[in-house]
Amino acid sequence: MFLNESRKEYTKYDFDKSRALDDPFKQFDEWFKFAKKNAVFEPNAMHISTVDKAGQPKNRVVLLKTYNDKAFVFFSNYTSDKGKEIAHNPKVALTFFWPNIERQVRIEGEAQHASADVSEAYFKTRPRDSQLSAWASNQSAEVLDRAELDERLEMFKNKFPSEVPRPEHWGGFDVTPHRFEFWQGRENRYHDRIIYEATTNGWKIFRLSP
Ligand SMILES: Cc1cc2nc3c(=O)[nH]c(=O)nc-3n(C[C@H](O)[C@H](O)[C@H](O)COP(=O)(O)O)c2cc1C
Repeated sequence: MFLNESRKEYTKYDFDKSRALDDPFKQFDEWFKFAKKNAVFEPNAMHISTVDKAGQPKNRVVLLKTYNDKAFVFFSNYTSDKGKEIAHNPKVALTFFWPNIERQVRIEGEAQHASADVSEAYFKTRPRDSQLSAWASNQSAEVLDRAELDERLEMFKNKFPSEVPRPEHWGGFDVTPHRFEFWQGRENRYHDRIIYEATTNGWKIFRLSP
């Protein structure tokens, strides 16, 4: 319904509790599909924040690879900084920002390793070079230079001349949310913010002041 309208038009969209779907996963699905249709560059790029042992928040972008009615899934190295931080404190925050449709979705929840089956199935779909990178990159560890990285890659190319198995240190993370915020940019910075909070009686839906 908004596909051919100018960017300005999005700010006229009134996102209210009356429009919000009962289930935040379905609401996310609707917005995500809309973001994809409207040519947002990498709409599945999301910021994920973790907290390290010293209480320092850390933030970086990863790609959402799939989601269902329970969890959001991304893939990474389990021994990376984020992997260690999640192992110590599973509480994470995700943020999607889709600038050209003036929407932001914030999600808070807990991350855990996805099942080995899910990790295995996704790893198999990756191009060979990406599979080899998962072996060669000791993600988040200091390296001397690019040559060191190239040497490691070469080593694993020789080690796995045909099929590349999934390294145990690489796989999916499921993020199970307990809070969502759907933010719709509006004119004059008077934005819409609709919150879903998990309660024992289901999702509580309410609006916050912008
Ligand atoms: C657009 C984009 C997509 C990315 N996707 C992933 C991803 O899906 N998984 C991943 O581990 N890192 C991804 N990265 C790299 C991360 O931002 C980060 O540099 C890396 O995971 C190491 O983070 P850490 O040292 O905090 O663990 C992506 C970066 C960008 C800019």
